[in-house]
Amino acid sequence: MTIRNILLHPDPRLKKIATPIVDLSDELRVLADDMLATMYEAPGIGLAAPQIGVLERLIVLDCVKEEGADPRPVAMFNPEITASSDELSVYDEGCLSIPEIYAEVTRPAEVSVRWMGLDGAEHNETFDGLWATCVQHEIDHLNGKLFIDYLKPLKRQMITRKMQKLKRELAR
Ligand code: NI
Repeated sequence: MTIRNILLHPDPRLKKIATPIVDLSDELRVLADDMLATMYEAPGIGLAAPQIGVLERLIVLDCVKEEGADPRPVAMFNPEITASSDELSVYDEGCLSIPEIYAEVTRPAEVSVRWMGLDGAEHNETFDGLWATCVQHEIDHLNGKLFIDYLKPLKRQMITRKMQKLKRELAR
């Protein structure tokens, strides 16, 4: 498994709409494994392919938080939200492409998702809690949307300037 480089905001590749996956190739399975390794190493609870510069509809996540609980790595090809609850939930979100910045985002508290798994089969599951927040955040990445896009423009600009500064520092 290879740890991939995670792109930092602002980057034009994080604003692009990712392409649907037609065939589940071995190459894509390797990519999913690399993404899971990259996510665990970060550490994070979710990662979308555009965040490592691959503009295809693939996300990985593992939102198991309880100490000592078994990990549940999930790879979703072409994930789609098929239903959302009216009930909302607020979560202090972060993103591996926007390190050390957190902000409250309001999203549906429960979502049903359909995706193709590593086994090539269709899966359907309803998520709540952190899993619901995370899966919506990651699917947003496939549509070129970041969690800061939900914030007021002034706050978003402030974060983007901070990130530009951080990227300049890292480039030195
Ligand atoms: Ni993110």
